[in-house]
Amino acid sequence: MSDKKVLLEIPNLDEKVELSIHSGTLGQEVVDIAPLAKKGLFTFDPGFVATASCESKITFIDGENGILLYRGYPIEQLAEKSDYLEVCYLLMNGELPSPEQKQKFTRQILNHTMVHEQIHKFFTGFRRDAHPMSVMVGTVGALSSFYHDALDITQPEHREIAALRLIAKMPTLAAMCYKYYIGQPFTYPQNDLSYSENFLYMMFSVPSEKWQPNPVLAKAMDRIFILHADHEQNASTSTVRLAGSSGANPFACIASGIAALWGPAHGGANEAVLDMLMEIGDVKNIPKYIEKARDRNDPFRLMGFGHRVYKNYDPRAKVMRETCHEVLKEVGKTNDPLLEIALELERYALEDEYFIEKKLYPNVDFYSGITLNAIGIPVNMFTVIFALARAVGWVTHWNEMVSTPGFRIGRPRQLYTGHDQRDYIDENNR
Ligand code: CMC
Repeated sequence: MSDKKVLLEIPNLDEKVELSIHSGTLGQEVVDIAPLAKKGLFTFDPGFVATASCESKITFIDGENGILLYRGYPIEQLAEKSDYLEVCYLLMNGELPSPEQKQKFTRQILNHTMVHEQIHKFFTGFRRDAHPMSVMVGTVGALSSFYHDALDITQPEHREIAALRLIAKMPTLAAMCYKYYIGQPFTYPQNDLSYSENFLYMMFSVPSEKWQPNPVLAKAMDRIFILHADHEQNASTSTVRLAGSSGANPFACIASGIAALWGPAHGGANEAVLDMLMEIGDVKNIPKYIEKARDRNDPFRLMGFGHRVYKNYDPRAKVMRETCHEVLKEVGKTNDPLLEIALELERYALEDEYFIEKKLYPNVDFYSGITLNAIGIPVNMFTVIFALARAVGWVTHWNEMVSTPGFRIGRPRQLYTGHDQRDYIDENNR
């Protein structure tokens, strides 16, 4: 925090209000507008374009320069050298683990990979053809009914065990969503496999056949998890924080985050990208779609392009692009028509003045869909994978908020533009 101040002149109050300017370790300074409320004034910022909702030590994004840091470590280094469980430990604890800490953490996660047998029955209440994200919202929310009475969120150990349970059970639930959808039996976790191998095993193995992990695909899956693990105060994380600010059960809060993630402007974009690439169908149709995206009267947007914070190439998209090539090579799809369309679309968009002027670059979702598709993950599971990976980010933000002394319920205000006060009109006189 700095001691810089800004003076705000309020004409009809005939006085100046002194507002402090806080500076963090990195990034923009923020004006502390809390004293305005005492003067009966609120700020107006729909979409939170200029509002820092909290102080946080977890993740930093420099959107102008395309930088993403988890606890200070660049995403490119973590994607290359680390693994997802180590990244989970880092996000949750603030430091990379020692070998002993890593081993203990992995063991703790493995202890919790199974879900309560009752959850299996819970699944059968869903329609077979329900979108897997709707099932994820329901089943992760249902975890709150298994872990509620004994959970005291004021206790750090209770918060930690809730986080471990969540990270451990997300792959199990995600795979169950898929198995339920395609009518195959649920597969129990195998704890001698790595986190990402275990997920692929629960997704793709069947009781009647032997299953062997593919190290290239497991590594790619792990990288996808790392890239999606956290992204500071995005819509779903802010939703989790807001839900958690009332003191609600953490699993219920995470379910609210999954709901927020589902939309195509957020996590649902990976699904929308693949649908879009299939709709484009051929590189010769690209100019037509670029034209549609530029047309202000056409609601069409190039999915996988643009970001509220990144005004440069999303660093996650760069890593994702490499991983995409590795996976396509492994599965023998180097001439994948969707990749061909994606590469050409990217080339067009990066040279187009509309996209240059609006600083619209590919985001993480642009290449993740093609990669997941090549791994064999069906399109309607893409956002579930995002939710699985983001669970650690959500729960870490929830924990940070709950453990901050004096945290308060989140309660934004509004600019009311409805009716003035009026009297009730009897039914016969309306
Ligand atoms: N295609 C065409 N035009 C676009 C696009 C796009 N993908 N994205 C933004 N624009 C235009 C938009 O029409 C607007 O133009 P104008 O200034 O003339 O009104 C301008 O760029 C600014 O857009 P905005 O909607 O005000 O920006 P935002 O910060 O509110 O929205 C966004 C960010 C990600 C929702 C948006 O870029 C978008 O809809 N992208 C496509 C969906 C997508 O890929 N989402 C995944 C985001 S990354 C993963 C995640 O974080 O979940």
